Amino acid sequence: MTFEVGNRLIAALDVDDRAKADALAATLGDAASFVKIGLELFCATGPAIVRDYASARRRVMLDLKLHDIPETVARATAQVDALGAELLTVHASGGRAMLEAAARAAKRTRILAVTVLTSLGDADLDAIGVRDRAAAQVVRLATLAKESGCAGVVASPHEARAIRDALGAGFLIVTPGVRPAGADAGDQKRVTTPKMARDAGADLVVVGRPIRDAHDPAAAARAIASELA
Ligand code: C5P
Repeated sequence: MTFEVGNRLIAALDVDDRAKADALAATLGDAASFVKIGLELFCATGPAIVRDYASARRRVMLDLKLHDIPETVARATAQVDALGAELLTVHASGGRAMLEAAARAAKRTRILAVTVLTSLGDADLDAIGVRDRAAAQVVRLATLAKESGCAGVVASPHEARAIRDALGAGFLIVTPGVRPAGADAGDQKRVTTPKMARDAGADLVVVGRPIRDAHDPAAAARAIASELA
């Protein structure tokens, strides 16, 4: 099955209840190829939202960042697959056996491995025993994810170029931390514009607050998507 990236925009539905999610999704229409359901919304609403959106042909990235023993991740992945989410995140640092188990359990869902959380700096990596700097660790984990059968990775746009150079075309790179020029960065520290992320090799970008909090979310999404085209 080939994977169509559409307009390359994933709008994060970072809201705390179903009514708000449905309203935002409806407002967006087809201005974003995917919606991202993250931990907040999933914990608030349960899995039905994924099934309902997938049934309505809305493409869903389910951002659960699974990290557990291979058997548990495989069984959770099978459930997500049945719900119809097209993309599911797991932590690459769960290791080869866990990544392979997720990839095997996913029949239609594609597995994206989260490399290094963008909230971790070098001091944080030291504290958890990672001796490499973030950039090297990202490429190591992305390579492991590819070898293990994952469809792609979630990484900072700053690391997209190095991942693309190391792993070539055909491996999905999904980047959050993207802000249209002039937008508030919020708590994202090293942001890039949509165009910079695309030029660095990102296939899809995740954007949350600049769309959710816009006066006209659909117009904001369309403007970002046109920068990604
Ligand atoms: O509002 P903003 O555009 O910063 O939202 C980015 C989205 O991407 C949020 O849902 C956030 O949880 C997610 N994300 C991130 N950085 C990562 C992984 C996911 O910002 N490394």
